[in-house]
Amino acid sequence: MFAVGLYDLVQPRHSVLRNYPVLGHLRYLMEALRPELQQYFIERDYDGRPYDRSRRSIIYERAKGVHAEQAFGTERDIDEVGYEYLAQSVAPVPLPDTPPRVLVGGPDCTQPYSMALLNVSAMSFGALSANAIRALNKGAALGGFAHDTGEGGLTPYHLENGGDLVWEIGSGYFGARTADGHFDPQQFADKAAHPHVKCLSLKLSQGAKPGLGGVLPAPKVSAEIARYRGVPAGVKCVSPAYHSVFTTPRELIRFIARMRELADGKPTGFKLCVGTRTDILAICKAMLDEGTAPDFIIVDGAEGGTAAAPLEYEDHVGVPLTDGLMTVHNALVGTGLRDRIKLGASGKVAGATDVVKRLIQGADYTTPRAP
Ligand SMILES: Cc1cc2nc3c(=O)[nH]c(=O)nc-3n(C[C@H](O)[C@H](O)[C@H](O)COP(=O)(O)O)c2cc1C
Repeated sequence: MFAVGLYDLVQPRHSVLRNYPVLGHLRYLMEALRPELQQYFIERDYDGRPYDRSRRSIIYERAKGVHAEQAFGTERDIDEVGYEYLAQSVAPVPLPDTPPRVLVGGPDCTQPYSMALLNVSAMSFGALSANAIRALNKGAALGGFAHDTGEGGLTPYHLENGGDLVWEIGSGYFGARTADGHFDPQQFADKAAHPHVKCLSLKLSQGAKPGLGGVLPAPKVSAEIARYRGVPAGVKCVSPAYHSVFTTPRELIRFIARMRELADGKPTGFKLCVGTRTDILAICKAMLDEGTAPDFIIVDGAEGGTAAAPLEYEDHVGVPLTDGLMTVHNALVGTGLRDRIKLGASGKVAGATDVVKRLIQGADYTTPRAP
C-alpha cells in the first residue's frame, strides 16, 4: 500500500493519481469495468436518440491518445429510433498530408484566413476564468485552430499564448464601446489590428437565448472584467437584445463592411441562431442590394450551449442547427452568394461524426465549445 502510494506521488503520467490517489484508483477501476457497465449508461440525447455516455467518453479519451479503436464494434441497432449513419465511398482516397482547412475571405477581404474545420466557439472572459481562456487559446495554438473570444472583450489572456483569434463583439460592443454604450470605431480598429486577431465577428444572437441579450449580475462585474469590457465595476452589465448601430438588414450589411474596413480588410462576419426564413432572405437581399457581403456566417443551433436565459428560451426559441444551417446554405445558394461566404456551424458538435454531419448539411467549418 505504502509502495503504491509512493509510486502515485512520484509518477509523472497521471495527475489524478498524484493529487487524489484513492479516488484516482477508483476511477481507473470503473474505467476497466466499463464494457460491463455500459448497458447502465444508455440515456436519451437531445434528439430523443439513445445516447451512450460511455461512447461519448471514448471520443474524449482520444484526446489523451487512448482508445483509438473500440474492440466491441457497432452497437447501434439498425431499428433504433433516429439511427444516423455516414455513407462511405467505394473509392476511398489516401489521407491528406495535412488536415483540411478552408479559406475564409470574400472579394472584399484583403487578409483571408485559413480556418481549421474544428475551432473553439465564442465564450467570453467573465463567463470563463482567465485560466480557462488561457487554456483554450493554448489549445488553439497547439492544434492550429481558431479561438473565438466571445463578446466579453479582447483580454491579455486571449493574447498570451499566441493562438489565432476571432474577436467577437455583441450588442454591448464590449472592448470597443463609448462610455454610453455605443460602438467606438477607433478602439475597434486599434484592437482589430493585433496580429493574433485573424477574423472579426458580430454576434446577432446565440442558440441558447435567441432574441435576448445577456446580463452579468453586478457582484460578478469585477474591476478586471469591467476594465476589459469598458463598463463600470460592480454595476450590472447588460448586452441589450438589439444592436444600436443598425436596425435594418441593409444597415447590418453596411456595418459589417465598416467593421471589415476598420479591421484593414480582415475577414468579418456575423453569428446568429436562425429565427425565420424571411429574416435570412431579407439579409441576403440586402447583400445583393449593397453589393457587399460578410466573409462568414456562423449558424448556432437552438440546441446549443449553456446560457443564463429563461428556460422557455433555452428550450423553445430558435431554429435547431440542422434546419438553421440548411436554411442559410440554401438561401445563399439561391441568391448566388454562397461562393463568397463561408459557413460555420455551432451547437452540440463534439466528435468527428458531428463535424462530418454538419459539413454534409452545408457548413464549411465548425465551432464546438470544447474541441
Ligand atoms: C460559458 C459559455 C459562454 C458563452 N459565451 C458566448 C459569447 O460570449 N458569445 C457567443 O456568441 N456565444 C457564447 N456562447 C455560446 C457558444 O459560443 C456556442 O454557440 C454554444 O455553446 C454552442 O453549443 P454547444 O455548447 O452545444 O457546443 C457561450 C457558451 C458558453 C457555454
